[in-house]
Amino acid sequence: MAVPKSDYLSNVWANGIFANRVLFITGGAGTIGSAQTRALVHLGADACIIGRNVKKTEAAAEEIAKVRNGARVIGIGGVDVRDFESLKAAADRCVKELGAIDYVVAGAAGNFVAPISALSPNAFKTVMEIDTIGTFNTIKATIPYLVESASRNPNPNPSGFTGGRFLSVSATFHYTGMPLQAHVSAAKAAIDSLMASVALEYGPLGLTANCVAPGAIEGTEGMERLASNLVTAADKTRGVPAGRWGSVRDIADATVFVLSDAGNYVNGTTVVVDGAGWRRQGGL
Ligand code: HXC
Repeated sequence: MAVPKSDYLSNVWANGIFANRVLFITGGAGTIGSAQTRALVHLGADACIIGRNVKKTEAAAEEIAKVRNGARVIGIGGVDVRDFESLKAAADRCVKELGAIDYVVAGAAGNFVAPISALSPNAFKTVMEIDTIGTFNTIKATIPYLVESASRNPNPNPSGFTGGRFLSVSATFHYTGMPLQAHVSAAKAAIDSLMASVALEYGPLGLTANCVAPGAIEGTEGMERLASNLVTAADKTRGVPAGRWGSVRDIADATVFVLSDAGNYVNGTTVVVDGAGWRRQGGL
């Protein structure tokens, strides 16, 4: 049964805008990643979802394929973004089975709540390896395919489609610093920097590389953990001028914008989707 559109996508987009295009996404079975994937598949894309957990990744792919008749969605589990070779093999398999990689979303992340006093060197390193090095590995494994996509679909072209888009899922913690999240803040700051460098090096070839930075998003694993440690239910949204936490749909909509033709001239930047939360108490 198809998932109702309103759960993961606004009604402002046109069906088919991603037709005959392929999304490759790490962390695509997660709460935010699956909403981003659903949105693109709904609007015409095929997709390849990468994850560590085989069952979860394959089940997510099967579920997401139901949002549009004829959608091809493959789930490749058992892939840890810290392992470049398995990521490269997954990217190659995506191209073999789906024909191309036109969009990459680097969404895989690791997080736990801990003060610096409880962070071992290995704990800090683990999050840096999953988030920052995992994003670098994703760039290395997929960028040749994005270059091909951009050359097949130059900007502007008669169809209006520009290929070769990289989007990393970042955060806002590093704008202010965040207690209990020193490891994640450092890792996400590095991701922002990586995207800027990709934009400068590959912009001349027609690629774009950006981040989307979610604020406090309802229902995500990360916020559930943080909320139970940092905020009480009563004052949950006190730091968010919008007066509410975000939804996965807010992130899916921003993803569609940046990856679509409407985002042609958005490059080397971060789209912050947080209801202005980080400007007040880091949004928490
Ligand atoms: C202190 C901890 C810890 C904790 C783990 N470690 N949990 N230290 N407090 N709560 C330490 C371990 O003791 C170990 O250090 C080191 O971290 C590595 O732990 P492992 O369990 O061996 O690592 P691994 O199996 O690779 O698991 C990685 C993980 C895990 C990050 C620890 O939680 C994970 O796989 N998470 C993936 C899913 C996830 O976190 N999703 C949420 C993403 S949300 P020692 O010294 O003992 O060897 C997100 C959003 C952030 O990123 C922004 C929100 C707005």
